Amino acid sequence: MKYSIADVRLQFPLLADETVIFLNASFQQPMNLIVSSAIERYVKESLYEPSPKSKWNAECENVRSKIAKFINAQPEDIVFTRDATESCNLFQRSLKFKPGDNVVLLRNDHPSQTAGWLGLIPEGLEVRYVERGESGPLPYTADTFTDIVDENTIAIGLSSIMFDSGLRNDVKSICDTYRPRGVHVLVDATQEIGFAKIDVRDLGASALVFSVQKGLSCPTGLGLLYVDPEVLPQLRPTPPIMSAGSLSNIKGGSIVPGPYICFQSARRFEHVNKALLQCLALGKYLDFLDAVGITNVQTHLEGLSSYLISELTAIGVETVGPDDQKYRSPHSNVLKLHSPEWLPFFVYNHVYVSQYSCGVRVSFGVYNTKSDVDKFVAVIRKGLQIGLL
Ligand SMILES: Cc1ncc(COP(=O)(O)O)c(C=O)c1O
Repeated sequence: MKYSIADVRLQFPLLADETVIFLNASFQQPMNLIVSSAIERYVKESLYEPSPKSKWNAECENVRSKIAKFINAQPEDIVFTRDATESCNLFQRSLKFKPGDNVVLLRNDHPSQTAGWLGLIPEGLEVRYVERGESGPLPYTADTFTDIVDENTIAIGLSSIMFDSGLRNDVKSICDTYRPRGVHVLVDATQEIGFAKIDVRDLGASALVFSVQKGLSCPTGLGLLYVDPEVLPQLRPTPPIMSAGSLSNIKGGSIVPGPYICFQSARRFEHVNKALLQCLALGKYLDFLDAVGITNVQTHLEGLSSYLISELTAIGVETVGPDDQKYRSPHSNVLKLHSPEWLPFFVYNHVYVSQYSCGVRVSFGVYNTKSDVDKFVAVIRKGLQIGLL
């Protein structure tokens, strides 16, 4: 590990209480002083400055550049939205299709991706699902889609990291295989951003969405949408939500007479008034991640995950999915512990995790240490001793 974990922990006051074993970053990270100072500044300037909005808007352009750099995109290809759901819908509803065309989704994917596609069924879109394997969750690769994608498939929609299994799908192989066949790939990276390095150009997705409340540690209310500039001309030119921000022919705050003209860039998807508070907070958190280094964060999280797995193996507790790191997220591991009694037992022991149908999800953040793993494994041992399964 190349950063001082002790210094990082100081930024997360909840963790000053050593009895708290916080392992729930994939749900929501604890508030930190980096983001809270950005919020405090926003409130202070709102209270004491006459019109800080213009200054904040200008700062948000810097934040756009920072987040673009963070995922290796150009600033003009990325826009601020309300959340991952809205980002998905903006792309989904911009795709051209005819009744009978289909989209391929993962049955167990997060509804922020799936729901938007369901909304297109009344217009004749067929929604096809890849079912979860009988032997339990596995990562999805290009091969997964061989028998389901056909000449009427307009898109594959999937998360890069699955919220319920912590497994990492091979998005690059999926894009490399299907995009040359004219199938778009819409990737939800909400469970990956801030935990792992993302390079959109290398991935080759048609569009990539995420919200900021997981690995980017910000309050809810802000999402991002990246659209591959080569895909933009293939989309409907009028965005599904038309706002003043979509239009290029506005002068002096009013729409000029004559036909409306939308921006040709991704900017047509953005509203004039953004979630400024969250944007400013995001800028500060990105500065922090830049100083620490996202690759260092990823390495640290992977180290904690492999330590966790080896400690669990020693006490006979299995995790979901293959061991190969290529198919695992750096930070999120799902333990095959299914009794509903585990969750209250964990809370009683000050352990914060989530439980889904695949098991108990343990998700690390930049602030976790091996000592957290040791304390957690000791709690599991106690649970096993009293007969929890
Ligand atoms: C994979 C994934 N996508 C999206 C979201 C959130 O979506 P939204 O920002 O639309 O609430 C979550 C979790 O809340 C998630 O786990």
